[in-house]
Amino acid sequence: MSHIDQHESAVRSYSRGFPTMFRTARGAWLTDVHGRAYLDFFAGAGALNYGHNHPELKQPLLDYIAGDNITHGLDMATEARDRFIGAFHDILLAPRGLDYKLLFPGPTGTNAVEAALKLARKVTGRRTVVSFTNGFHGMTLGALSVTGNAFKRAGAGVALHDTVFMPFDGALGPDTDTLDVFENALTNPASGLDHPAAVIVEAVQGEGGINAASPEWLTRLSQLCQTHGIKLIWDDIQAGCGRTGTFFSFDGLDVEPDFVCLSKSLSGYGLPLSIVLVAPECDAFAPGEHNGTFRGNNHAFVTATAALETFWRDDAFAADVRDKAAHLAQRLSDIAAKVPGLRPGLRGRGLMQGVALAGEGTAEAVAAAAFERGLIMETSGAHDEVAKFLPPLTLTRGELDRGLDVFEAALLAVAREKDLAAKDAA
Ligand SMILES: Cc1ncc(COP(=O)(O)O)c(C=O)c1O
Repeated sequence: MSHIDQHESAVRSYSRGFPTMFRTARGAWLTDVHGRAYLDFFAGAGALNYGHNHPELKQPLLDYIAGDNITHGLDMATEARDRFIGAFHDILLAPRGLDYKLLFPGPTGTNAVEAALKLARKVTGRRTVVSFTNGFHGMTLGALSVTGNAFKRAGAGVALHDTVFMPFDGALGPDTDTLDVFENALTNPASGLDHPAAVIVEAVQGEGGINAASPEWLTRLSQLCQTHGIKLIWDDIQAGCGRTGTFFSFDGLDVEPDFVCLSKSLSGYGLPLSIVLVAPECDAFAPGEHNGTFRGNNHAFVTATAALETFWRDDAFAADVRDKAAHLAQRLSDIAAKVPGLRPGLRGRGLMQGVALAGEGTAEAVAAAAFERGLIMETSGAHDEVAKFLPPLTLTRGELDRGLDVFEAALLAVAREKDLAAKDAA
């Protein structure tokens, strides 16, 4: 029995789902203490878009540490911070004609969401925030109040208030534009909806079931926010940093978020780093009004700058992600056709895709069977009913196919166990 099993809190989860002791990792591969290699289709829940220990990111970090450069500096000016802000502006914002200020909250995604919620309420002087069914935004109280999952919400132990949930795109079936419900609530003075300060949305709901909103829905949402003077908070914590095939999940859409939350793969190396991009007219915190000790992870600045310079100076990397995403979608559709009994439903965008599987516990059984065969993958959705594919964006086509072969074998094995029609090609 490990110290982890003996002494770590019962709340631990991934060490239960992936029951081995990991030692090293490189690219799309993890290796455990027994020397067994696992292909990683989970990528740190989206924190490792460039894979594990990418050499182009590791070397600048090693040089930086060896040179005794600043590690911790609150939000003091450091060279590493300055370079990161410069690279972010020059490589991402300026070419898109975006004019955001960079606000550094604490190091995690939920810290970014808290800062955006506070600021939206401050600049509007209003309290209500609208979120969407199946949305996931983090575990601290503010972020939890805009998270839909009942199990997670119950953990708060206090009232989660000043939030209202509207149906996400597709939540009421394919024939209903759910924004009609929201628009009606906004325009009907007897709807009971107080004029919201903000709307918070994920373009692709990661934890909520890999539900991708359509471009039309997202555009209409942005227009509704503008028409009614509501701030739009775009939570790109999981769907951003290239995951959907462009750096921001809103690239190419006619939308104008007032706040954009980024975290997870922002540092590129799995180091904690978050930012909120803030429209200049919303940049209303007084100096120090929102602070935190860890708002300047200089090691993360170094790897984040290297990631921007390595992958985002042109469209080549993103184009390769889109190619692999198309291949993933095609193969998932072929695999799904082999298990009609599980009524597989495909969803997602870019290298953020999922397969919903009928039957309680099916997706979890498939993830467990995949792990036994050397593939790490997670489930998602309100009932954990979706097998989720979130591989490093840097994986090779061969690695993608290899992982999908394992998924297919695991899926067919579970379908056979459940005695459901599995058209096994073999
Ligand atoms: C969309 C989204 N927002 C916020 C968060 C919270 O980020 P963190 O776990 O770093 O607090 C997550 C985490 O999965 C997320 O997927």
